[in-house]
Amino acid sequence: MTKDGIRIYEDADFAGMHAAGRTAAEILDEVGPLVTPGTTTAAIDDFIRNRVEALGAVSATIGYRGYRHASCISVNHVVCHGIPGAKLLKDGDILNIDVTVILDGWFGDTSRMFVAGTPSRKAARLIEVTHEALMLGIAAVRPGNTFGDIGAAIQAHVEANRMSVVRDFCGHGLGRVFHAPPNVLHYGRPGTGPVLEEGMFFTIEPMVNLGRPETKVLADDWTAVTRDKSLSAQFEHSIGVTATGGEIFTLSPAGRFYTSASGSS
Ligand code: MF3
Ligand code: CO
Ligand code: CO
Repeated sequence: MTKDGIRIYEDADFAGMHAAGRTAAEILDEVGPLVTPGTTTAAIDDFIRNRVEALGAVSATIGYRGYRHASCISVNHVVCHGIPGAKLLKDGDILNIDVTVILDGWFGDTSRMFVAGTPSRKAARLIEVTHEALMLGIAAVRPGNTFGDIGAAIQAHVEANRMSVVRDFCGHGLGRVFHAPPNVLHYGRPGTGPVLEEGMFFTIEPMVNLGRPETKVLADDWTAVTRDKSLSAQFEHSIGVTATGGEIFTLSPAGRFYTSASGSS
């Protein structure tokens, strides 16, 4: 069944999404201790690729539109779709690690911020505001609300903190497929957009910049960076709409929201 072109899943489908989401989140929990100055993002990606396989899942990103890695790792002013590589992380780097797995045909897509060593105060605040914005967006999820309500909640919090919401990338429906309608915008006006209905599955994944919202994609055709080179942060959860609200499929089994080498918070 669909509504406004958005697939409506059955009650029984929530279990599959929970299992897939939990697998992706568990891998991010495990990655935390690897994120230290002197590590390469390629080494982190190798670890993720092995863990996806060991947990009986399949990477959704390897082979996706020619992408060749098990994660996207977006460091500092990289907004999203950073390609893991040989560059060494250095003290104070902030990075988003985005993992999507397929488990029994269900997609689990989640990303979090990590810090190598100690972040600047501004960077730490950017990470905090971005996570708060995601959770405020999720709090707006309930049947009868609209996708515009989600975007408006995110945008209001980000802009109240004098940061900006990236417009060039959005969340997406998912479930048995990686990217499906609707586009989930992280800005907008309350009461606009499609109406949320029980059984819709989608991601919310706001990207927030310390400077201006504009981005550009580098010559590798993947890496998106802030045009003004300001720092960018992102968190992503996969969500299902229940009768009363939004259920998060990708909560950290270890209870973390982001992790640094020195521990979690
Ligand atoms: N996981 C990303 C998302 O949130 C998509 C990555 S596609 C890739 O939608 F090919 F770059 F890995
Ligand atoms: Co996504
Ligand atoms: Co993702």
